[in-house]
Amino acid sequence: MEYFEISGGTRLKGTVKVSGAKNAALPILAATILCEGETVLRNVPDLQDVRQMITLLGRLGVTCERLADGALRLRVEDEMNCHADYELVSKMRASVCVMGPLLAKRKRSQVSLPGGCAIGDRPINLHVQGMRGLGADFELVNGDILLKAKKLKGSELFLGGPFGSTVTGTANVMMAAVLAEGRTVIESAACEPEVVDLAEFLNKCGAQILGYGTPRITIDGVASLQGVEHTVIPDRIETGTFIIAAAITNGELSVEQGRLEHLIAVVDRLRQMGLNIERYEKGIVVSSARRLEPIELTTQPYPGFPTDLQAQVMALLCLADGNSVVTEKIFPDRFMHVAELNRMGAHIRKEGPTVIVEGVKKLIGAPVMASDLRASAALVLAGLIAKGHTTVHRAYHIDRGYERIEEKLASVGADIRRVDK
Ligand code: EPU
Repeated sequence: MEYFEISGGTRLKGTVKVSGAKNAALPILAATILCEGETVLRNVPDLQDVRQMITLLGRLGVTCERLADGALRLRVEDEMNCHADYELVSKMRASVCVMGPLLAKRKRSQVSLPGGCAIGDRPINLHVQGMRGLGADFELVNGDILLKAKKLKGSELFLGGPFGSTVTGTANVMMAAVLAEGRTVIESAACEPEVVDLAEFLNKCGAQILGYGTPRITIDGVASLQGVEHTVIPDRIETGTFIIAAAITNGELSVEQGRLEHLIAVVDRLRQMGLNIERYEKGIVVSSARRLEPIELTTQPYPGFPTDLQAQVMALLCLADGNSVVTEKIFPDRFMHVAELNRMGAHIRKEGPTVIVEGVKKLIGAPVMASDLRASAALVLAGLIAKGHTTVHRAYHIDRGYERIEEKLASVGADIRRVDK
């Protein structure tokens, strides 16, 4: 099993380029089920999760080929199969994104109900509620959600849950509503840039969606969608991870393709810690302050602080000059990294969905275990500054969401390598 071996202490300096956004690419790939003809997608990251989605699409009759320039060309060849089974869904929860497109285009969707995962309980009741609101019949069959509808009808839907809006739920219902008869209004819709990218893709294909990027999305159903060319937005979470990598090593990085406007809440908190973060013509430049101020932060739906950067920022807060308070309001149990960071000399105490991070002078290298994608990124970041050697086991977690992270970090001076044992 592969792991990362890191010798901490080198300052990062130079330019690193951000890949396309995983969480935009996955629903857009699923949306190709809706399209007639050929779709060409650019800037799709070559990640484990993307490969998994391509495998699932293959089983659902969508062929996918990588062109010489790296773009993906997709086309629906067969519309018989409507079943995303447990084997695939349990490997990647975002498989659930095929539910809306299958129901809209093939009038039937059978998607295995995903179980819990390392970041907590992750229900999909709001996805199902949205599909039923559009007129689909629902049945639970052997752990699968079976939805059927002769015809979907536009409707007024509220998609807010106990933790606010739902990102893939909004994407799923939007994809179902584009071919429904009449107008659908989604209230409490997710405003994440990845939802905006999906809506822009669908509109290019002929959909009529308005209000995306706000909590009220209006969709006027159309008869069909036509495949187009589209370039996926850069990954804001990878961008944030590189910004923190510069900060934690007291370095200086240009993060090419990084979009500051997608990271306003993060930049606000990091500037409060004392970092210098600015735009430049190709992205974002960041340089670190000698002294890191402690902060308070709460994760929230966009444009609030993203839960997907909570773990990485926590690694940085371990070295702040005082006590920081981090509250997780999206996934209250998403703290698997806490015990591992403490193994590296951090002082973090958890009280329910809140942790107190007491700043320490240094972190110390140790063997640590990756548990989920973002927690693993936090451990890599901690390893970059820890004294001595750190080994981050179960590298596959990080490969789900970061494209060649060790090569990118090594190219700006990090002492990190992948070991296969
Ligand atoms: N929720 C419900 N019912 C639902 C759906 C969600 O109660 O039907 C709750 C969730 O339990 C959670 C909150 O609503 O408390 C928000 O969950 P959301 O549905 O927005 O999460 P998601 O769509 O399953 C996406 C990203 C996650 C990211 C979250 C939050 C993709 C493929 N995944 O998940 O990304 O953490 O939004 O921003 O877009 C990652 O990339 O590491 C990752 C986990």
